[in-house]
Amino acid sequence: MARVRSRHVCQQCGHVAMAWSGQCPGCQEWNTLVETAPEPKADGRVGGRRSSASGAKPIPLSEVATIEQGRISTGIGELDRVLGGGIVPGSVVLLGGAPGIGKSTLTGMTLANVQASGAGTLFVSGEESPSQVRLRAERLGPSALAVPVLAETSLETILATIETERPAVCVVDSIQTVHSAELTGAPGSVGQVRECANALAEVAKRVDTAVVLVGHVTKEGSLAGPRVLEHLVDCVLQFEGERERTYRTLRAAKNRFGATSETGVFEMRSGGLNEVRDPSAIFAGEATGAVGSVVLASMEGTRPLLVEVQALVSPSELEVPRRVVNGIDRSRLSMILAVLARHAGLGLGASDVFVNVVGGVRVDEPGADLAVAVAIVSAFRGRPAGEVEGRPLACFGELGLTGDLRFVGHADRRTAEAVKFGLSPVLGPDPGEQVEGLLPVADIRAALGRAFDSHPARSAA
Ligand code: TYD
Ligand code: MG
Repeated sequence: MARVRSRHVCQQCGHVAMAWSGQCPGCQEWNTLVETAPEPKADGRVGGRRSSASGAKPIPLSEVATIEQGRISTGIGELDRVLGGGIVPGSVVLLGGAPGIGKSTLTGMTLANVQASGAGTLFVSGEESPSQVRLRAERLGPSALAVPVLAETSLETILATIETERPAVCVVDSIQTVHSAELTGAPGSVGQVRECANALAEVAKRVDTAVVLVGHVTKEGSLAGPRVLEHLVDCVLQFEGERERTYRTLRAAKNRFGATSETGVFEMRSGGLNEVRDPSAIFAGEATGAVGSVVLASMEGTRPLLVEVQALVSPSELEVPRRVVNGIDRSRLSMILAVLARHAGLGLGASDVFVNVVGGVRVDEPGADLAVAVAIVSAFRGRPAGEVEGRPLACFGELGLTGDLRFVGHADRRTAEAVKFGLSPVLGPDPGEQVEGLLPVADIRAALGRAFDSHPARSAA
């Protein structure tokens, strides 16, 4: 095939240039030109718009096959749940995560299970040699060794292999290493990543192969490559956690076939990733009720999850004191500190504040506010929260800017989970109905009163 010339298309105004330049000749914007492969015409020629298309016959939705019938189980319960019940044939899943978090392990385990169930698989490795892939598979067990591997980075070869092999699930590890011969850009560049993902998505739909694209994330935590990649795929999974810790969480940032709020928890062991079926037991079990420690009764999708929130407050030597967060949103901390300053008389303008959700878990819900606030106050006052010595206080609730405690969903399930682990009463907003084990509080003042002054022995101290 003769080499076709790629074009450079401005992402802002759509101007098409034959050569790359830093500034778009069309709209004068900077760094908006992205290399794009020319679209082949129906007759095989390149460029221009297809004009001979004939109309297609639309069909009633009731006659369209449902997705549930064909889902492929990954054999990993937590992964299936995050996906919404398994992988949908012909869909494209993007799995993002920092290096070393376990992306290759998770996808390798998935393919091993799918292969063992009798369906075809393919592991395309652009990062590691077949012997390196084999080394990992040996750790994962005999079924992982049955997975066919293709060490390849050429898009055209990968597409052709998928077409002939037609596996049920194909993993491409990673999309940043794949490159198309039609583009001159380096692998991993915006144009290459988009073009390759596009072509893989197209072939996935056509031959009904589910494609899992492994993607790197940048230091800032977003998926490397263009945002369009996230629009292009059906499902974006994020694999998070601290590399030094063994716990990892998997969540869906986007899912066309299920909810996005489900979280799977895994533990990295010597034989691969183990599902953590009852994460509350681990995270809450480690909480000791020490100064600065509180248990948050959070919701992860349809599942209640107890996590320990720790805070440390110390005099700052910096002009602008430090605000360090791990597992919660930084701007959320600023808001909580402002509410504490205004409505609880807690001035931390000269203190460094550190907040950490233990176990490398991320809580992305406003219901975490109260736990963060109570942990900070506990750290500041140097007094443990809660009524009983050595037992952590469990709480949840969103803080309003007026200091009120706002309603969050599933008060009953959050409370029940805490009660299950002996952590009651639970402080939370008034759900408007009687919830066993829940102590409703109206605002931050009332909550702090209950957290620190309710026990006779404590209030005397
Ligand atoms: P890996 O899946 O290669 O991470 P990624 O593809 O996201 O970069 O593996 C991550 C780490 O997990 C690696 O440092 C080795 C470790 N590991 C285990 O602890 N146990 C195992 O069974 C395997 C396969 C890996
Ligand atoms: Mg890897």
